[in-house]
Amino acid sequence: MPKLVKPRGVLVAGNWKMNHGPKAAHAFLSELAQALASTHSAKPPAGLRAAVLTPAVTLSAALQAVQEHPTLQGWLQVGAQNAHHEPSGAYTGELSGPLLREIGIGLALVGHSERRQLFGETDETAGQRLSSLLHQGFQVIFCVGETLGQRQAKATAKTVLGQLEWAHRVAAARREPWDASRLIIAYEPVWAIGTGLTATPGQAQEVHALIRGWLEGKGLGQTPVLYGGSVTPENFAGLLECPDVDGGLVGGASLKSASFLKLIETGAQAI
Ligand code: PGA
Repeated sequence: MPKLVKPRGVLVAGNWKMNHGPKAAHAFLSELAQALASTHSAKPPAGLRAAVLTPAVTLSAALQAVQEHPTLQGWLQVGAQNAHHEPSGAYTGELSGPLLREIGIGLALVGHSERRQLFGETDETAGQRLSSLLHQGFQVIFCVGETLGQRQAKATAKTVLGQLEWAHRVAAARREPWDASRLIIAYEPVWAIGTGLTATPGQAQEVHALIRGWLEGKGLGQTPVLYGGSVTPENFAGLLECPDVDGGLVGGASLKSASFLKLIETGAQAI
């Protein structure tokens, strides 16, 4: 058997942040389905997956659009951008696992740097959300990454592995061991998010290799590790050449269906 080029497949996840309401999501997904149907990529290769992480009000419409388009089914998932670790309660403005499940969502992003920097998310609360959601059967994309100051202080490894270690300790304390089949890590250097500054493939690979080593040490070797931070259709192929980059978490370049399609096609070529 030849060795797989991408043993963990490729995942292209679009983080729409606070963009695209139900109408825009429906239009986006219809355009994507039509574009896929008119190219030979109508059926994506085995191992290629995609996801859109939408605002809360958009989730149902996005799910509905996927249902309407057979070309999107089975490989394009719809996910939430955040969810609380408690199943219910007095947490104004929050979403929970059971609420998401009720409308058919089984994927969530946790610990994004914008949640950490702008909304008070900490290593502790991100760890709680991650372990609780995994325990509830969700697939979770868990974000880690260093700031520019931490990189300049040569504290990248310490920061990123520290974030993982902290979350892992939270899971142990909650007696919610991680399930590697549902865990996805996203390495997102904070200095590269929305800035147009992408980590070079060399910089990305260096940190991805560290994360992979850490995961293997915990018996979580099958966990994919995505790169995020100003990924574009132009730089994605170079990043995917890195052996430990298993896909991308993409903000700005995921907002237009044509650009998202290019990212998916690049992912397909890398497999
Ligand atoms: P960006 O965002 O691609 O716009 O840099 C990535 C992210 O925040 O997940």
